[in-house]
Amino acid sequence: MTSHEPNSPAPDATAQMAFWRGDFGREYALRNEITPERLQTHTRAWARMLNVLTGSMPSTILEVGANVGINLHALRQITSAPLYAVEPNSLCRQRLAADGIVAAERVLDGTARAIALPDASVDLVFTCGVMIHIHPDHLPASCQEMYRVSRRYILCAEYFSDKPETIPYRNQQDLLFKRDFGALWMEQFPQLRLLDYGFFWKQVTDLDNLTWWLFEKG
Ligand SMILES: C[S@@+](CC[C@H](N)C(=O)[O-])C[C@H]1O[C@@H](n2cnc3c(N)ncnc32)[C@H](O)[C@@H]1O
Repeated sequence: MTSHEPNSPAPDATAQMAFWRGDFGREYALRNEITPERLQTHTRAWARMLNVLTGSMPSTILEVGANVGINLHALRQITSAPLYAVEPNSLCRQRLAADGIVAAERVLDGTARAIALPDASVDLVFTCGVMIHIHPDHLPASCQEMYRVSRRYILCAEYFSDKPETIPYRNQQDLLFKRDFGALWMEQFPQLRLLDYGFFWKQVTDLDNLTWWLFEKG
């Protein structure tokens, strides 16, 4: 069993969240240090994903499920926009605040379903490898919450599967769910405009076979 952290709010008390808030989440963070090589790979990926926004770059950016902040560090290489992080794991939040890439008051305890920010308060809201860890029953509420907070853009970079499927992950049976996340966003919010999409192939990018979609709110 993993341990829950004392005194942390539990707005999202799912089995998946218990894992990420506890030892499982801590161990993930310790395995995924930010190295110069990873930073370079992610910076290249972000330049590609935001390429279409040249001239209308987001003025504020929120990562939901930021972990230790590899994406936020990479974004800092290409934009001076204020950055926000929502992260359920307290060790990760401490790391994010200590690093200074995200101002401490913009490092928030929360989940995709519970974001302590006002409506339309951040230009770009994104996930990377996070929607895959949300139980399918909770995806609609999670998308709704991220949509609420976004002023303009939504991006998700996740593992793709044509049909929804559950994949064993680190010996756990209910922690990784693949699907067509782009279609999920478009079905729930038909007014979203697809700006760009793509695939980072592990063989040549060192990223984890991520499919990404960039949307603009209508
Ligand atoms: C696989 S890691 C990905 C981290 C980071 N986005 C990256 O690309 O390196 C998943 C992260 O999302 C967090 N997480 C898991 N479920 C979440 C949820 N429902 N809402 C927000 N964050 C979540 C975990 O604590 C963990 O830090």
